[in-house]
Amino acid sequence: MLPAMTARRLIPVLAVLALLGFAARRHLPVAAAYFDRESCIGCHGRDNAQLLGQWMGSAHFTAGVGCVACHGDDHPAMFAAGGDVSPKVCATCHDREYTEFSRGAHARAESDAVQADLFKAAPPEIQRQGCMTCHSIGKRFPDGGTGRCNHCHTGHRFAAAEARAPHACEGCHMGPDHPQMEAWNASKHGINFRALGDPGTSPTCVGCHLGGEAGHDETSNMTLGRGAAGAVLEGEPQAVPMKTLTRAEFDERRGRMLALCRSCHSAKFARQALEDADQIKRTSDQLVAEAADIVRGLERDGLLQPMPADRAPHPTAGHALVLGGAGLYTNTSAIEQRFFEMARFHHSITFKGAYHFSPDHTHWTGYAAMQADLTFIRDEARRLRAEGLRHATP
Ligand code: HEC
Ligand code: HEC
Ligand code: HEC
Ligand code: HEC
Ligand code: HEC
Ligand code: HEC
Ligand code: HEC
Ligand code: HEC
Repeated sequence: MLPAMTARRLIPVLAVLALLGFAARRHLPVAAAYFDRESCIGCHGRDNAQLLGQWMGSAHFTAGVGCVACHGDDHPAMFAAGGDVSPKVCATCHDREYTEFSRGAHARAESDAVQADLFKAAPPEIQRQGCMTCHSIGKRFPDGGTGRCNHCHTGHRFAAAEARAPHACEGCHMGPDHPQMEAWNASKHGINFRALGDPGTSPTCVGCHLGGEAGHDETSNMTLGRGAAGAVLEGEPQAVPMKTLTRAEFDERRGRMLALCRSCHSAKFARQALEDADQIKRTSDQLVAEAADIVRGLERDGLLQPMPADRAPHPTAGHALVLGGAGLYTNTSAIEQRFFEMARFHHSITFKGAYHFSPDHTHWTGYAAMQADLTFIRDEARRLRAEGLRHATP
């Protein structure tokens, strides 16, 4: 106990001494490769004063975890890494968090995105700024580590408290294909949290998805809600490509979610709310399936304008029609574009809104918009068929 306490008291003193040492040397030209433990603080305390202040306010500083523990002492190697640090380095001290994180979806975010056809069809600057800014939460490092812990614990405070706030999730879990933030904001949970500011009274993202038994695996209580288009039970029809899970997996995972609700709600109330959301997912799947059948029928009868054979090839499917999943929003036809919006956006808004208890997302911007899409798709199909008929019988 005593040596630890002494060491803890000594760190601020050492840091100040190091700073003073560098203040004296600051008029020297940036010397050649002379880097030791103190020199990090010297140069960077001068050039990036706030960065140093953040580190000094962190749990790492208190515990004596310095610059070298994360960055090493090889400056050219740090430049090569763009200043970033592999999660394997964090894992040397936080093995449990890294292992849990590796089981979840965040760890796969980069590899899932680069395999996506939408990614292959996008220009490189869109890939970097329009995909990877979010999907780098699963960044793959040269040492085999995957993940960017600092998406939720930003440098150089690396605070647990920051990650507990809903804002930590906001930058990525928003927008028309995954509006969890907007839906939670519009739900009683979000409203109550904003009014009272107490996660013990009303749940935040982390209260339902991270921490506790799940730790850093955010997928442990996911069932039909998971994935871009959600999932179905094994053997159930898929309107567009979806993940699948077995009945046993469903029961186990749902059990974990219900256990969380029960700290504030009766089991009956919570089960009913989740079953309604499951049913809303199935109902919206059926609407997508109906629309997909209409578009596939047109393609079979050669009536899409233009037909897939007459346009730029899809990155992996070539001249075949692709709906949902790997479907694109470039080089398609008007009816397919409307199908994209229905399957990718309005379908997601409906069921993701329902799982987050936002009546507005579930109904007005979700279900109602899907009905409008279907009306348009039926109408457009009638028009294309009538036109096709006129061409066939001049
Ligand atoms: C002699 C001064 C000096 C010393 C000593 C020094 N650095 Fe740097 N370091 C710099 C400068 C200058 C840069 C470039 C800053 C910029 O681009 O604005 C830099 C950049 C970095 C970067 C960012 C690299 C990137 O690609 O963005 C990291 C990380 C870093 N240093 C960490 C350290 C660590 C850890 C130590 C101690 C082992 C250390 N530095 C020692 C001056 C120094
Ligand atoms: C707990 C691990 C950890 C410690 C300790 C740490 N860093 Fe970092 N550092 C990171 C990570 C991760 C990044 C990547 C980007 C970020 O979060 O800013 C980074 C980024 C940087 C950068 C580039 C930042 C930018 O935005 O351009 C510099 C410079 C840097 N660190 C210097 C230091 C110095 C100097 C120290 C010691 C005072 C230090 N780091 C301590 C993990 C650490
Ligand atoms: C050399 C060991 C070491 C390394 C490397 C390290 N940490 Fe830590 N970290 C600690 C210690 C010690 C603590 C304080 C005690 C604790 O909470 O476990 C801590 C605490 C934390 C906390 C909790 C802070 C709080 O607010 O309570 C977070 C978050 C964290 N580290 C993230 C990271 C990340 C991210 C990396 C990699 C970029 C990293 N650590 C690298 C040792 C390390
Ligand atoms: C998706 C957001 C997110 C990411 C990414 C993330 N964390 Fe965390 N982390 C959290 C949350 C939330 C907490 C607080 C959990 C709680 O209160 O039970 C936390 C807490 C911690 C703690 C403190 C643990 C404790 O018991 O106090 C450490 C250490 C930590 N994280 C390390 C890491 C490391 C290492 C990585 C990368 C492998 C990482 N985190 C990535 C959200 C994240
Ligand atoms: C009251 C608990 C609760 C809160 C609070 C909550 N969620 Fe969820 N979340 C759920 C449920 C229930 C599901 C569906 C689980 C399933 O598949 O059975 C879900 C699903 C998800 C999914 C998978 C896709 C989807 O929407 O179906 C993501 C991503 C997600 N939540 C992120 C978040 C984020 C980010 C926040 C905060 C803005 C948040 N959640 C707040 C309960 C919650
Ligand atoms: C604003 C942040 C953000 C941007 C930008 C973004 N994504 Fe995503 N992406 C997500 C989130 C969050 C999910 C998880 C969806 C959910 O669970 O609701 C996701 C899910 C996915 C999935 C599904 C993974 C699975 O197996 O279910 C793929 C593939 C994907 N994104 C690819 C891309 C591509 C390619 C781009 C760029 C063209 C992109 N994303 C842009 C945040 C983003
Ligand atoms: C930097 C962007 C980013 C941040 C920050 C982020 N996520 Fe994610 N999240 C993603 C992406 C991307 C995916 C989908 C990864 C995949 O499946 O390939 C995802 C997946 C998930 C899933 C699993 C859904 C599924 O489809 O399996 C949950 C739950 C989740 N995130 C919750 C959270 C929570 C809670 C937070 C805040 C504490 C958070 N995320 C912070 C980008 C992010
Ligand atoms: C930390 C406490 C807490 C947890 C955990 C929690 N809730 Fe709630 N929930 C609340 C509060 C508070 C309200 C508002 C109650 C009221 O209107 O009096 C609420 C309201 C609701 C409502 C009603 C929405 C409306 O507009 O009337 C539903 C549905 C709901 N919760 C479902 C769930 C489900 C399902 C879970 C688990 C996935 C869950 N809640 C977890 C605190 C919680």
